[in-house]
Amino acid sequence: MSDDYTTRPLTAQTWDDFAELVEANNGVWGGCWCMGFHPEGVGAGRSPEGNREAKRAHTQRGSVHQVLVYDGSGCVGWCQYGSPAELPNIKNPAKYAQGAVELPAWRIGCIFTGSKHRGRGVARAAVAGALEAIRAAGGGVVEAYPEQTAERQPQRGAYLHTGPEELFAEFGFVRDRQIAKWRWVMRTEV
Ligand SMILES: CC(C)(COP(=O)(O)OP(=O)(O)OC[C@H]1O[C@@H](n2cnc3c(N)ncnc32)[C@H](O)[C@@H]1OP(=O)(O)O)[C@@H](O)C(=O)NCCC(=O)NCCS
Repeated sequence: MSDDYTTRPLTAQTWDDFAELVEANNGVWGGCWCMGFHPEGVGAGRSPEGNREAKRAHTQRGSVHQVLVYDGSGCVGWCQYGSPAELPNIKNPAKYAQGAVELPAWRIGCIFTGSKHRGRGVARAAVAGALEAIRAAGGGVVEAYPEQTAERQPQRGAYLHTGPEELFAEFGFVRDRQIAKWRWVMRTEV
């Protein structure tokens, strides 16, 4: 991890830091509040306010695992992780299910860096922090669902919803199977 960054878990104590970053980024995708991977999901019937309250409730009862990255002045990004039961809503679920042999112990869910802080290693620090936390919790097989960026037009970070493949490859994740034109299941064991 870069010496410039520190990490803390998302808890009731760090909620305000997380909320400030989300609000500075228009709720993230217009108000998902990083609820997409949780059992409630986002979309029809959900509002930004409802998503905010749902995320806050998860934070208060401890049913969210999320590493926040700080740059000294505030929270600048995060990496969410959790068990498949905690994070059931991955993208491309039908294709994922077709090739699934065994569920992983852990999933990486939402990864996000504030729009003003991209390209400076925040996501790298976030993934490093998440893997450290997973190791401390007993480890096991970890899956991520990143986007392929090679052999493709250059992609703005904003469109790499589940992170770039290169980032996870740096941490030893390897391709398991393809679940969309540009998205892969990648796995590692910690
Ligand atoms: C994808 C994202 C997380 C990357 O965060 P970041 O802090 O800018 O990434 P880092 O600076 O830590 O980059 C680490 C590595 O990832 C890869 N990477 C990062 N951005 C990339 C891009 N746009 N294209 C290709 N590779 C990229 C590179 O390998 C990079 O290493 P390098 O800088 O040494 O080349 C960020 O752009 C983002 O938050 N996008 C929006 C994601 C989103 O919408 N999340 C919510 C989903 S519901």
